[in-house]
Amino acid sequence: MDAGDFSLMPANKRLLMLPGDGVGPEVMREVHRVIDWMSRRRQVTFALTEDLVGGASIDQRGTPISDETLDAARNADAVLFGAVGGPRWDKLGFDMRPEIAILRLRKDLGLFANLRPAVVLDPLVDASTLKPEVIRGLDLMIVRESTGGIYFGEPRGVETLPDGQQRGVDTEVYTTHEVERVARVAFGLARKRQNRVCSVEKANVMASGLMWRQVVTALHEREFADVQLSHMYADNCAMQLVRNPRQFDVIVTSNLFGDLLSDLASMLTGSLGMLPSATLGAVDAAGRRHALYEPIHGSAPDIAGKGIANPMAQILSFAMLLRYSFELEEEAALIERACTNVLASGLRTADVMAPGTAKVGTSVMGESVVRELDKLAA
Ligand code: NAD
Ligand code: IPM
Ligand code: MN
Repeated sequence: MDAGDFSLMPANKRLLMLPGDGVGPEVMREVHRVIDWMSRRRQVTFALTEDLVGGASIDQRGTPISDETLDAARNADAVLFGAVGGPRWDKLGFDMRPEIAILRLRKDLGLFANLRPAVVLDPLVDASTLKPEVIRGLDLMIVRESTGGIYFGEPRGVETLPDGQQRGVDTEVYTTHEVERVARVAFGLARKRQNRVCSVEKANVMASGLMWRQVVTALHEREFADVQLSHMYADNCAMQLVRNPRQFDVIVTSNLFGDLLSDLASMLTGSLGMLPSATLGAVDAAGRRHALYEPIHGSAPDIAGKGIANPMAQILSFAMLLRYSFELEEEAALIERACTNVLASGLRTADVMAPGTAKVGTSVMGESVVRELDKLAA
């Protein structure tokens, strides 16, 4: 093989792994098993690097994310993120929050479209707090804007007024371009699904919400008239997600509303420990795009260190990485099928336990997924 062929070698897929804090490293360990399996059985290999983020980085480097780590993320073909944060770092002040790591990654890499699928797997239909007849077969995609809105808007901060009171400010801001690009992602996804988009804001209260609705409507007329578009206020959407979640196909919404609605949607599927996500940037002239994959859950300090966290969201985030960054649809689907089959076989972590199933820890779950992959590939 000459040097020209070298660039085609699969080992060129540069993958940066950022396990973070709490259960982050615990669930990431299980992804390593899946990565090993992919290289042994499918000849899908990665050039792996691992780095510190969040509290772990604060402890060792005095910053939630170093410039070197940000550069490494920029140079990677894909980033797999665990979770950051925890009570140990809560008192360090606003500029030293572990959560800054994920916010800077999204912002600095231009990762504006956060795809959060909520899929109810058949074996888990009884694990949700909602009735099986309401959630069975649910397959919903929330597209959350992730580099704008109130998370980043200026002005922000806390000032002390002359009378000694404090005044805290955050600002919801969106430009036409920011709304259009995330809506474009949602419309594009809908075309490959059930062709329906529901755009969610509070156009009845917020000026930026009304502008969001107008921009989405105009874009729809111009470029996506074949897609069915509806609009909904965010408060109603929260209620509708619990009342009748299957009315939705793709939901597109702002950073803050998307954060809230996706946690809500996670309980339709049984547990926060089940929901993966992909956060995508724009495609550049060379056809490349930055992308980060992470479970939507956090570092789960209440269960960290006990070996009981559900690794499915992290493993399924790796499946999304294979699908969206490397077009390895078959491998992604294999992992998803393996996860479903393991749950169907009756193995459950504590968060998705149901009567008649067997409780296992994080690593037995990971091992079982790999064993199932073996069976599927046999
Ligand atoms: P959390 O998502 O960490 O936990 C909420 C609840 O869900 C907890 O009861 C937890 O035990 C459970 N849970 C979460 N993941 C689970 C899993 N894999 N298996 C089983 N149960 C799971 O949210 P929180 O408690 O509000 O936040 C804890 C810390 O995580 C905070 O510092 C927060 O800022 C941070 N956080 C980080 C991210 C991220 O890194 N992307 C996301 C959300 C929250
Ligand atoms: C998420 C988290 C983050 C967010 C935090 C940790 C900054 O809740 O990814 O959902 O609010 O976006
Ligand atoms: Mn969240």
